[in-house]
Amino acid sequence: MWPAKLSSLQHLAYEHATRGACLALCARRHKSLGQVADTACQYGSPKVVAIPADVSNVDDCKRLVEETVNHFGRLDHLVNNAGISTGAMFEEATDITNFRPIMETNFWGPVYTTHFALPYLRRSKGKIVVMSSPEAWLPTPRTAVYSASKLGLEIFYDSLGGTYT
Ligand SMILES: NC(=O)c1ccc[n+]([C@@H]2O[C@H](COP(=O)([O-])OP(=O)(O)OC[C@H]3O[C@@H](n4cnc5c(N)ncnc54)[C@H](OP(=O)(O)O)[C@@H]3O)[C@@H](O)[C@H]2O)c1
Repeated sequence: MWPAKLSSLQHLAYEHATRGACLALCARRHKSLGQVADTACQYGSPKVVAIPADVSNVDDCKRLVEETVNHFGRLDHLVNNAGISTGAMFEEATDITNFRPIMETNFWGPVYTTHFALPYLRRSKGKIVVMSSPEAWLPTPRTAVYSASKLGLEIFYDSLGGTYT
């Protein structure tokens, strides 16, 4: 049904669109985000809002949630899909700070966004979806920080599970 190669953002957007969901989509690149939004409309979403934002930035995460709620008046579900990786060996790093964006995007992005979204999700009894990875539990030398970011996410959301029902 779908074109052969889709990113997770496209797949998630189009799958939800065919089921009639209204969508607020986020990514950093305006143009490609707009294209995904247009295609999601063609697949049947009644309303798609494209919100360019960088989830590693806490203010962007706040704005993302606020713009979504201002637009739709509610928030039913939060899907934390944005993620980045690197194939670099930890021991070969010349600048250790090059790894920081991985943790900032993969771990702090969902955590920030969840913080701002939680009051609305409680109201709607909505769900949070989080993209982990097999590397969280099968780490390799080239995925040390990526694996840590994904395992950290799992522990974080497991710990929320006790209070968030
Ligand atoms: N592909 C796999 O085999 C695989 C396996 C296990 C888990 N995952 C996880 O699944 C998720 C999606 O993976 P994918 O393969 O679809 O990756 P992808 O094709 O590289 O897409 C990543 C998406 O995240 C967005 N993004 C990246 N950094 C962002 C940021 N700081 N703020 C906002 N948006 C950002 C990108 O758009 P912009 O660049 O425009 O921001 C893009 O839409 C990730 O969390 C990844 O770790 C993927």
